[in-house]
Amino acid sequence: MQAANARTGLSAGQQQALVGTRFAVRWVPSTGSTNDDLRAAAAEGAPEGTVLAADHQSAGHGRRGRTWEAPPGSSLLVSILLRPDVDPDDLHLLTTAVGVAAAEAVDEELAVAVGLKWPNDLVAITEAGERKLGGILAETTWSGEHLDAVVVGLGLNVAWPDPVPLDGIAVALNQLTDAPVDRGDLLVALLLRLEAILADPEHSALLERWRHLATTLGRDVRVELASGVVIVGTAVALTDGGRLVVETADGPQEVTAGDVHHLRPA
Ligand code: BTN
Repeated sequence: MQAANARTGLSAGQQQALVGTRFAVRWVPSTGSTNDDLRAAAAEGAPEGTVLAADHQSAGHGRRGRTWEAPPGSSLLVSILLRPDVDPDDLHLLTTAVGVAAAEAVDEELAVAVGLKWPNDLVAITEAGERKLGGILAETTWSGEHLDAVVVGLGLNVAWPDPVPLDGIAVALNQLTDAPVDRGDLLVALLLRLEAILADPEHSALLERWRHLATTLGRDVRVELASGVVIVGTAVALTDGGRLVVETADGPQEVTAGDVHHLRPA
């Protein structure tokens, strides 16, 4: 194994693989939240493609203000700063892009099949059922009406100690494979896939890959919207704009974001 560079956390070979992409990685032993750090960096003018990973976060957070905790060194905790020229209505596709890139990277590196639970969870189907393997949180910064930056953060459970935290809800890669997992390799594989996705102006290929990975389609779901409204029905489709279509007793409803609960096992 090659020695990791203290600043990037990546080996020379891993750094070399990223040459020609937009991404520049910095890896720190500990911070509050990599998402918070990159939002602050965005305000200071940090460029598109700035990537911050940490071995540990003391104030990691997830969607809806939930805390995101992981033992030091147990996870891939990373945030990616993008300054996309996208319609604000399409911003959720960046979560989809990182989710697809991460799921495919895990499969490519470790031959572990990962699914995507809409809109932002990476899941593994275990003998005991579907378990959360990771989550994505996209946060925006604005200058007035102008979208300044999007920070997409990923927390991926890699090597959890025994006893496993959140047993019955979450799972880590070391429970799914005996293969050694190098977080740097995973990050590089993810970023290379993300680079290709972002370079493609068409969304159709991304959405096809998402549909292939989706564990939500065809499932009975309960969706809690940020407004508090709850939608219950069957997830029947993903639109070309990346929205989930839920067939309810009152007809189809399109959802852009929300907390999805699968009501029955797959
Ligand atoms: C969720 O499932 O609610 C999303 C969790 C996102 C957690 C990651 S860990 C790296 C980055 N920094 C944070 O504070 N949050 C994201």
